[in-house]
Amino acid sequence: MAAIPVPALTHWKLSYGSTGHCWATLDKADSSSNTLSREVMDELDLLLSHLERFPELPGVIFRSAKASGFILGADVGEFELLADAATAAGLAARGQALLQRIENLPCPTVALLNGYTLGGGLELALACRYRIAIEGYDRCIGLPEVQLGIHPGFGGTVRSVALLGVPRALDLMLTGRSLSPVEARNFGLVDGLAAAGEGEAAALRMLARKPARRRPVWYLRLLNNQRLRPLFARQLHRATRRKASPAHYPAPYALIDLWERYGGMGIEAYRAEADSIGRLLVSKTSKNLVRVFRLRERLRNLTPRGKAVRHVHVIGAGVMGGDIASWCAVSGLHVTVQDREERFVTPALERARILFSKRLKAPGAAAAARRRLVGDVAGTGVAKADVVIEAIVENLDAKTQLFTAVERGAGADTILATNTSSIRIEEIADGLRQPRRLVGIHFFNPVASMPLVEVIRTKSTDSGAFERSLAFVTQIGKLPLPCASAPGFLVNRILMPYMLEALAAFEDGYRIETIDAAALEFGMPMGPIELGDKVGLDIALHVSEILADTYGAEPPEALHEMVDKGRLGQKSPSGGFYQYRDGKPLRRKDYPPPDSELIDRLILRLVNEAAKCVSDGIVEDADLLDAGVIFGTGFAPHTGGPINYARQCGIEQITERLLALKEKHGDRFLPSPAWSKIGSAA
Ligand code: NAI
Repeated sequence: MAAIPVPALTHWKLSYGSTGHCWATLDKADSSSNTLSREVMDELDLLLSHLERFPELPGVIFRSAKASGFILGADVGEFELLADAATAAGLAARGQALLQRIENLPCPTVALLNGYTLGGGLELALACRYRIAIEGYDRCIGLPEVQLGIHPGFGGTVRSVALLGVPRALDLMLTGRSLSPVEARNFGLVDGLAAAGEGEAAALRMLARKPARRRPVWYLRLLNNQRLRPLFARQLHRATRRKASPAHYPAPYALIDLWERYGGMGIEAYRAEADSIGRLLVSKTSKNLVRVFRLRERLRNLTPRGKAVRHVHVIGAGVMGGDIASWCAVSGLHVTVQDREERFVTPALERARILFSKRLKAPGAAAAARRRLVGDVAGTGVAKADVVIEAIVENLDAKTQLFTAVERGAGADTILATNTSSIRIEEIADGLRQPRRLVGIHFFNPVASMPLVEVIRTKSTDSGAFERSLAFVTQIGKLPLPCASAPGFLVNRILMPYMLEALAAFEDGYRIETIDAAALEFGMPMGPIELGDKVGLDIALHVSEILADTYGAEPPEALHEMVDKGRLGQKSPSGGFYQYRDGKPLRRKDYPPPDSELIDRLILRLVNEAAKCVSDGIVEDADLLDAGVIFGTGFAPHTGGPINYARQCGIEQITERLLALKEKHGDRFLPSPAWSKIGSAA
């Protein structure tokens, strides 16, 4: 076999083992990770033409030379270049044809999955006869295309059904979730696992053994029967509708329809897959979700990874401090957590145990996290910590006093961070000898599930401390948003007008259920009334009082009344605007449906505030604003963010609509002067 001439390729390396099998190793040039870019696919074409010349090959193993994983999927950057649905469908059809040639190779093929194997990467692996995953990785194998508003397009909708059966295949594609190697094996997605460093040997053994291809069990195959498909498809439609509206997110519905029609079988199923992804790729939803993907990447890469933080000391083991401490321990850091007395620390450690066992599934991982998180009433951790995070009561004197003591005990380079929501960071800095290392690191509640963390600098914060704070937030797997020090930072400032408008609508006679339904219809993850109840109406009142000057309006009477009555929301036994059973709001079903004016009132208050935040320099630019609002509030991702939404509607239309609302409801709808600048920057 050594005599076989190997084509000169840039991204792929071909080599032959002593038993004659071929290693096809992807090592995308000038990149730390592998994606199926056009160039990589062009070379795959050459590589396959080469392999096809040697029908006597005993086997081919596809593997990656990257530490970052096998293949992360298609090259998302190339999506933006697709001009029309036909071109996009053509590209998918070409990918399908290439992967079909892998499947058609006369010899057995193995894909060796070392970590991330996503989207097109998994589709390539599915075209191989066998798959072996390297153990020890977290969730890294999946078909997450729906998150980009599309579905698999290189034959994945067909091959996944053939391999896994329809319930599992559609679950994987509709949720877009990723599986760990062990889960992938149990799911039937991979044929075997191998320890790190033993993958190659396992692949060779697989080639020598040539076991029968995996197939789903008979009763799963039965579901693919043409008569049963419509029944199951209807169920899938119903379940999907509960999570995403077809008007905003067409991809999951397209997936179900493809399966219902073709059952994941035959040449027509491939053709239909390509046509469908072609249409989706050029849809507004997909373009906007690709934008969201890029915004996430931007936040992740705001600052180069510096020296990693090893030890965090958290002061205040309440709702926030306790959860910040456990999150840092989940992320692999050593954490000491301090409070006034042991009895305040104990509940935080108990909550942490629950989080560890939920999040850390690898053997021994939860126990290791428990060892990393230590209660520390004496505050000895301050001296050892790279970062000290203060999350005590919201009181300036208490915070100043605490930081004065912390400053004395902390190392010279230690970052001092406050999690305050409403105290000006400058006021805390004023009490410090070295204000240059003070930053705001503002987490959201609940810490474990909120992806965004606002990072705030004052004029005295030095750039090094600020950059290290951004890097720290990235290190613990959150998205850092650099924010100016101003009341409400970004997220609370943006959310409050939306919540206040909901209360104004309530005072106008709208039912709370109608108001929340209006927000959901637009694509918000939760209605503003329910959100207020969840945050706590006392906190909402406090924040709206702090921001009263910024908005030029006092908090509405309805909010004062609820707080006076002690109905503070979900946390109160009497509830808030809603009453609660098992943590769920009790909604009456007979409410009038929302009208478009109500939707505009809620959303345009928020969108108008977004424009003001850009012109006030709360964040550096409109893209960071959209990123902050999407990841901090869950703002309808299919719109690409509030500023993007306004641009897509047309700035003129938005300002006209605001003026019409101003005529009817008052000056709070006065269009921000910032729109003219934002409009011209589009
Ligand atoms: P909390 O009342 O649940 O916890 C505060 C903890 O600090 C208590 O356990 C208390 O014993 C402890 N504490 C008070 N003084 C102390 C001292 N001198 N030394 C050590 N421990 C002390 O309060 P929560 O809600 O956790 O808020 C903490 C901070 O986080 C506040 O600044 C708040 O504005 C901010 N924040 C709160 C959010 C929320 O949703 N609760 C969201 C984002 C920020």
